Amino acid sequence: MNDKPNSSSHDGPCSTSISLPHSNSRQPSSKQNGIHEKLPQLVHRHLSSPFRKPILPFNIAAFETAQEFIARHNKPLILDSCCGVGESTYQLARQHPDAVVIGIDKSANRIGKHTQDQENYLLLRADLNDFWRLAVEAKWQLQHHYLLYPNPWPKAAHIQRRWHGSALFPSLLALGGILEVRSNWQIYIEEFALALKIAGIQTQVEHYQTQDPITPFERKYQQSGHALWRCCAQLAAHSY
Ligand SMILES: C[S@@+](CC[C@H](N)C(=O)[O-])C[C@H]1O[C@@H](n2cnc3c(N)ncnc32)[C@H](O)[C@@H]1O
Repeated sequence: MNDKPNSSSHDGPCSTSISLPHSNSRQPSSKQNGIHEKLPQLVHRHLSSPFRKPILPFNIAAFETAQEFIARHNKPLILDSCCGVGESTYQLARQHPDAVVIGIDKSANRIGKHTQDQENYLLLRADLNDFWRLAVEAKWQLQHHYLLYPNPWPKAAHIQRRWHGSALFPSLLALGGILEVRSNWQIYIEEFALALKIAGIQTQVEHYQTQDPITPFERKYQQSGHALWRCCAQLAAHSY
């Protein structure tokens, strides 16, 4: 599923043990110690009712910039959602020279830290709550979609802030492509996998290790000794 030099714990160089500098990041802490009991109900509800919140002008402007970029390049499209400072966007663009990569994050501060130095990627400040819906409306079909270390929202009461528990989940599915979600909170990935299964999409929860972290959070979590988890799925090209 993963076509990058990085690989999962069971399929390549990452099956060997990795020695990394130490860091001190905390694991997500939650009273929730398994899949949230309301998740199936939420996913069913979101799959059957469209999300109609109005779209904000700054997201429309960002989306138009993305459309111009895509039209200029006319290549397969990779989305790096929640890209933070854009390190992964840059790395994915290097790994996929025949595609274009768009990195989206809502934090102007994080996006502003990046200095772009390659042709085939673009970083944009936008809120995915709007951006994904605009992309679905415009019938985007992705080659890959990366969602790397999204905010876990570990409090049980915040289940709807997790992407798989949110009203945006059907938009994420409709964008298609090979989806890869990574987290240092196993429950997040288990829930994501269950939400995909409810939508009729098969995936597996995998332990993930890499010698070449592609995001600052991936690096920080590994250096802190956290286990990393991911799920990958081929999303069908039809709308939800
Ligand atoms: C934990 S950080 C991970 C950043 C990066 N992927 C990494 O691994 O270094 C989560 C990121 O998601 C972004 N984010 C959260 N909600 C978002 C939304 N609705 N739209 C766009 N970005 C969002 C935050 O601004 C933050 O940069």
